[in-house]
Amino acid sequence: MRRFAGPVDLADRLERSKAMDRPIRVLAKAVRDRIRPGRLRDWLHGVPTGKPLHPPLATFSLGCWMSTAVLDWTDADPRAARLLLATGLGSALPTAAAGLTDWSSLHREQQRVGFVHMLANVTALGLLSASLLARLRGDERAGKVLTVAGLSAGSLGAYLGGHLAYRQAAGANHAPQVTHLVPLGWHDLCLVNDLPKGRPVSRRLGYIQLFVLRHAEGVTVLADRCSHLAGPLHQGRLVVENGETCVVCPWHGSTFRLADGSVKHGPATAPAPTFETRIRSDGTIQVRPSLT
Ligand code: FES
Repeated sequence: MRRFAGPVDLADRLERSKAMDRPIRVLAKAVRDRIRPGRLRDWLHGVPTGKPLHPPLATFSLGCWMSTAVLDWTDADPRAARLLLATGLGSALPTAAAGLTDWSSLHREQQRVGFVHMLANVTALGLLSASLLARLRGDERAGKVLTVAGLSAGSLGAYLGGHLAYRQAAGANHAPQVTHLVPLGWHDLCLVNDLPKGRPVSRRLGYIQLFVLRHAEGVTVLADRCSHLAGPLHQGRLVVENGETCVVCPWHGSTFRLADGSVKHGPATAPAPTFETRIRSDGTIQVRPSLT
């Protein structure tokens, strides 16, 4: 007998479905071409706040619309319901811009789920806009029905957004556990003379891979996992921006300062874990997780 396909199974199937890959490819490229790397893109990713911007904006919009429905059910002042509905619609534009920007730098499986998430939310926006228009025309009854319909579509979008965030870990920090896997204290890593000069390499310390760069002032060590989606930082380019040496992740271009692992450019919003280093008299490099 066929097992009932619950919502999680359906979302899992969506991850594997190639049916929408072509429009996904076209749209993701268009978003990346329109919103070029720079200050706006970093803001939309949430780099200045250290967390993705899209989830709190989406929560605000959805909260406005849920509150509209509550006011409708309690027959409260229709002007308050209209105001909340319009406020949610007003915040939908930055919400969508932040979401699209994040989405354009995800893996294909995440983009498939994100694409349907977006379609559900566009449907919700259409229905809720129609609800506001109906209310402004004085047709409160139609406005209430359209709000319920819009919230239903929005709930599907929210469910898929949750799948993206919690099941597929889009927007999560992919490097937080690194320092927990290294015992306290100093650890021998390798001999300094075994490292090339000016070119990052990967070295293993226990369970984790490290980004190791030998340069004129000594050795810089970071976690090798990009906090965005775990790309290998040692394969990235070294760049100097405003006098700061940074590494650019080879997968989606997140840029981290070597001095402290902080994010210079997204899509990553969390820093790269850093390690203190010292070199023993016999040339052995020792590392320990930085406490800050
Ligand atoms: S994995 Fe996406 S920018 Fe590094």
